[in-house]
Amino acid sequence: MKVVLTGANGGVGRIVQQLAPGQSRMELAAYSRQELDILDKQALVDCLLFHRPDYLINAAAFTHVDQAEKTPDAAFLLNAGCLEGMTEACRKAGTTLIHLSTDYVFDGTKRTPYTEDDLPAPVNTYGASKRAGELIILAYPRGIVVRTSWVYSRHSRNFLAAIPGLLRTQSEPLYVDTLQTNSPTYAHDLVNGLFALTQSNVHSGLFHFTNTGGGCTRYAFACRIREMILRNDPKASPAMVLPMCTEVLGGAPRPVYTVMSPEKMARLTGMVIPHWQEGINNII
Ligand SMILES: NC(=O)c1ccc[n+]([C@@H]2O[C@H](COP(=O)([O-])OP(=O)(O)OC[C@H]3O[C@@H](n4cnc5c(N)ncnc54)[C@H](OP(=O)(O)O)[C@@H]3O)[C@@H](O)[C@H]2O)c1
Repeated sequence: MKVVLTGANGGVGRIVQQLAPGQSRMELAAYSRQELDILDKQALVDCLLFHRPDYLINAAAFTHVDQAEKTPDAAFLLNAGCLEGMTEACRKAGTTLIHLSTDYVFDGTKRTPYTEDDLPAPVNTYGASKRAGELIILAYPRGIVVRTSWVYSRHSRNFLAAIPGLLRTQSEPLYVDTLQTNSPTYAHDLVNGLFALTQSNVHSGLFHFTNTGGGCTRYAFACRIREMILRNDPKASPAMVLPMCTEVLGGAPRPVYTVMSPEKMARLTGMVIPHWQEGINNII
């Protein structure tokens, strides 16, 4: 099976590159932004007609939530506008497109996990641009949208991945947010989920993929990391973790509860999706 990857140097893209060699009969052609700009429609057509892949995994996106408020045109262009060209290129090459989206398409007013049947109502520009992109992909007959949330790995450049290092090096307590409850997702599990879709011969539809366990706050995530550090090394002295309830000043509004249910994906692929606490073992 031939797979092309865009956004290859991003947090998800790097894990796709790392895990693809372990997939039997998968041939991956990975393209960073420098090698393939997804805003360049002709370059997309040329690339896909050259490879004629079974699947294109699009991990390229405008992902800076606060910056999207300041430059909405750029966010909409990358997260939605250019996807018309991408689906057109896929159509010409007979390729199924797997596109990643976000829990931020929801407004966060529910208190039970969001399913694929729940109505999106984004509260910020990033979420609105991602929702606009979803509609373009879902209108393509071979378009798959996989919504995910709080993706982290040992190499991620985000707060979740930074917590173990902060706890080990900081002497003062680490104050961590209790406002938002989301579903942390270990990047390797997400990528295994994307690969499971290709192996299940799925070619269209909307799916949620996160780790299971009903989600948590960043505070609960940090507490669990501290607990695991101490379990692995009872002599360790990680910093205390204390709760903090704050909004990012001047930042984009964020939905407070966006736990998603990955049940549809688990049923379809037969995957046993790990609990969010399991991924933590891989980053401490
Ligand atoms: N990470 C999360 O917590 C999370 C949560 C929910 C949904 N998602 C979704 O998952 C997907 C992947 O996210 P991620 O965490 O891997 O994001 P990321 O680390 O920000 O990576 C995005 C990648 O897109 C590339 N890119 C930007 N503009 C491009 C262009 N014009 N052409 C080609 N590539 C371009 C960037 O290139 P440079 O490296 O050159 O900047 C970067 O490598 C996104 O669709 C995101 O919305 C992520």
